[in-house]
Parts: sequence; C-alpha cells; structure tokens
Amino acid sequence: MTTTSADRGVGGPEELADRVVLVTGAARGQGRAIAERLAAAGARVVAGDVLDTVAELADAWPGRIHAGSLDVTDPHAWEDLVGQGVERFGGLDSLVNNAGVLRRVRLDDETATSFEAIWRVNTLGPFLGVQACLPYLRASGAGTVVNTLSTAATTAWSGHGAYVSSKWGLRGLTKVMALELAEHSIRVNAIVPGPILTPMVVRPDDLNAANRLARTPLGRAGLPADIAELALFLVSDRSTFITGAEFVIDGGQTAGVTVREGT
Ligand SMILES: NC(=O)c1ccc[n+]([C@@H]2O[C@H](COP(=O)([O-])OP(=O)(O)OC[C@H]3O[C@@H](n4cnc5c(N)ncnc54)[C@H](O)[C@@H]3O)[C@@H](O)[C@H]2O)c1
Repeated sequence: MTTTSADRGVGGPEELADRVVLVTGAARGQGRAIAERLAAAGARVVAGDVLDTVAELADAWPGRIHAGSLDVTDPHAWEDLVGQGVERFGGLDSLVNNAGVLRRVRLDDETATSFEAIWRVNTLGPFLGVQACLPYLRASGAGTVVNTLSTAATTAWSGHGAYVSSKWGLRGLTKVMALELAEHSIRVNAIVPGPILTPMVVRPDDLNAANRLARTPLGRAGLPADIAELALFLVSDRSTFITGAEFVIDGGQTAGVTVREGT
C-alpha cells in the first residue's frame, strides 16, 4: 500500500510527534524560531543556550520544550543537557547545531584569543555536540544532525577572518560527519543562510536593518521562520535520502549577478 503525505502527517501538528530534538543557541534568533517550529510540529525539544532567557521557551511550551544552560564549547555542559533531555523525553533523535558567534575584525587587529573563541563556538561546538549525542542518535535509527553554516562558507567576507574560516571548517566537518555517520543511518546536512533578521546582524537601534539587508534578488531579508521551515524539512522524514548536502537559503543573493536592462 502506498503511504501518502497525509498518512505520515506531513505538514501537520503531529509530524514530529515521536521525535526528540536538541537545538543549540535557542534563546533568540534562528534557534528560537527552530525550537518553536519543531515543537509546533509535535517534537519534544531540548533547548540550550548560554543566555538565561532560553527558559522562556519552556514556560511558553510546557511539556514540549525543556530548556537548559548550554555552552557549546564545554563538553561537560553537553553531557548535562543531553542527560536532562534523555531523562525527560526518553531519547534523542536529532541535533540542530545552530549556536554561533560573529565578530567583525580585520586581520591586523585580530588576536589569537578572539580568533580561537569564534572557532570554539562555531566549529568545535558542533563537533562536541555530535560526540555527546551520538549514542542516542545511533539508537534512534532515524537520527539527524543539522549544522548551520553561512553564505560566508561559500565565499569570503573581508573583516571576518575568524567567522569565515570557522564556517568553512564546519562545512568540511559536516561532510565528514555525513560520511562517517551514514552507517548508523544518521543523516547530516547543512543550512546555509544569507541575511536573516536576527540580533546577530541587527542592532536594536538599527531601524533601517530590514531595508539594508533587503538587497537580495527576492527583495527582502530572510526571517528566522524561513530558516525554521528548512530545519523542519531536514530533521523530518521528508528528507530521508538527503545527507551531506548544503541548502542555501538567501533570497538568491549568491545565485549570481542580476543584469538590469540598460546597464
Ligand atoms: N543572521 C544571519 O544573517 C545569519 C547568516 C548566516 C548564518 N547565520 C548563523 O545562524 C546561526 C544562528 O544565528 P542568529 O542569526 O540566530 O544569531 P543570534 O546571535 O541571534 O543567536 C545566536 C544564539 O547563539 C547563542 N550562543 C552564542 N554562543 C553560544 C555558546 N557558546 N553556547 C551556546 N549558545 C551560544 C547566543 O546566546 C544566541 O542565543 C549562527 O550559527 C549564525 O552564524 C546567521
């Protein structure tokens, strides 16, 4: 008998009903939108962040979201939060490595300490996360990992040496993870965002941010909700033959050059 999308609840409130997903950097921005979108699709979500405000998610989604402190650079913090999640929800099927930091510094002003600090969050963090979650992802039988790159990992931006190199590093690591974990039926894919309206790129006093970041072929900046839909696709059974892949979500910004009439 053919199984239809409706049978699997695709797009419905129970699509991820049997899934437990850990989302990092969930206190705000894309991570928060992902945690809430997955919870709305029926998942049990373990939300981690260095910011205490991550607790607001547990208040808003009682029984659905477990929130806790997580510094992704600290193996002990991973062990604690993963342990809490497994105890509360009975397992772990997916890991969304979303936490990230960006700093704008030219190479001649960069220090070894701040360069390394960016790498520790953006590149080492996802590696530690996979190590901490692996026994549970393996046991799941349908494990998934989603890493968050950036269009900075497809090209380069001046003034962002640590950030660009950390995301290129994570891009390579994503492929290694996909190859090594395939034997456990764990799929590993990457989201590659362009400009998305979050506190990372929009200061509270930057009233013109939406216009400034709207210079994409689609004429707008991305929203955290756009990223959340892609994350849902990648952790769900809608993408069961996809691993080691990268999904650019940037309103066409890196597609090429738009040549206007008369120019
Ligand atoms: N916003 C964009 O335009 C954009 C573009 C490309 C890629 N990204 C990537 O998307 C991801 C999400 O970014 P965002 O735009 O939502 O940024 P954001 O700054 O709004 O959110 C990042 C979250 O990560 C958390 N975090 C930082 N260091 C942490 C650590 N050591 N441990 C745990 N949590 C930590 C922060 O507290 C914050 O809640 C990042 O990996 C970022 O590099 C963002």
